[in-house]
Amino acid sequence: EKGTYPHYMLKEIDEQPGVVRKIIQEYSNPNGELSIDENILTAIKEADRLYIIAAGTSYHAGLIGKQYFEKIAGIPVEVHISSEFGYNMPLLSEKPLFIFITQSGETADSRQVLVKVKEKGYSALTITNVPGSTLSREADYTLLLHAGPEIAVASTKAYVAQVAVLALTAYVTAQSLGKDLNFDLKQELGIAANAIQTLVDSKDDLELIAEDYLKVARNAFFIGRNLDYYVSLEGALKLKEISYIQAEGFAGGELKHGTIALIEEGTPVFALATQEYVALNIRGNVKEVVARGANACIISMEGINEEGDRLVIPKVHTLLTPLVSVIPLQLISYYAALHRRADVDKPRNLAKSVTVE
Ligand code: F6R
Repeated sequence: EKGTYPHYMLKEIDEQPGVVRKIIQEYSNPNGELSIDENILTAIKEADRLYIIAAGTSYHAGLIGKQYFEKIAGIPVEVHISSEFGYNMPLLSEKPLFIFITQSGETADSRQVLVKVKEKGYSALTITNVPGSTLSREADYTLLLHAGPEIAVASTKAYVAQVAVLALTAYVTAQSLGKDLNFDLKQELGIAANAIQTLVDSKDDLELIAEDYLKVARNAFFIGRNLDYYVSLEGALKLKEISYIQAEGFAGGELKHGTIALIEEGTPVFALATQEYVALNIRGNVKEVVARGANACIISMEGINEEGDRLVIPKVHTLLTPLVSVIPLQLISYYAALHRRADVDKPRNLAKSVTVE
């Protein structure tokens, strides 16, 4: 029930700090250490390559998961859009493990891939929010997101849960492989949960940003580099699906390869700058678009922020920024949709679970 909330989406956005804390709790063993099911851990460790398969927002979480497995655990990963995978299957490694990321566990595009890979005798793990869902039942293993029912069509808390569970799984795998880890993920996830809380408590400011940048906008761009790039994709998807503003997310470096042609006086450009090593480059991109009249909104992070940044998120571990930087983008989309009197929880043409290919 949405209780006093005007929309499920807003309620679900507010639930996100609790979702991260719940995941920490659900995936801690009696000694208080992060852990996952031993059989799943073994399946991941035995694989020579992970193939993440997903659609939409879950695909965006998968792109982040690839970095986690590669950077934390040293396991190579490919990420594929499920609808493409069936007819555009890459050459597979010798011992692949398929990981399906799906909030609903019912997405037909993802299921057709699961059916195909099971026919070939490969193992599959489903990461889902819905116990007993089709993709959970048909896979060998399941990891649950513990986000609670997500009712709004636009995915918010499930995305945050997916990113957290992927980080946790990669971290536990790395520990089990004896990797030298120089951070305590449990502690860092707690810090991220607090940062998410700070942002969901900044609604007034985010409503103002939506008004300043999107009230009359016909289109909007989201740019970022490295992990910020993937969050840009998610920010653009959120905005288009609920506010119907044409939005595009792309890598900052790609700007000059085409998209900059679209920048006009007043075009909103949301630039994420939470990744220290590329912060200067993304700020360079902002200068380029501002010189062409863009209305740029820089969202940076404490420690690498500069004067004039429109929003500064609290400092979190550099790998966990996607959990936090997505929150303002969700809320900006929400308020942009409200301004346009769009049906936030049930956007036109969309269904919560897409059960046709
Ligand atoms: C976006 C959104 C969709 C879903 C996609 C996959 O807000 O909700 O893009 O992410 O349809 O759905 P699941 O994760 O249920 O497989």
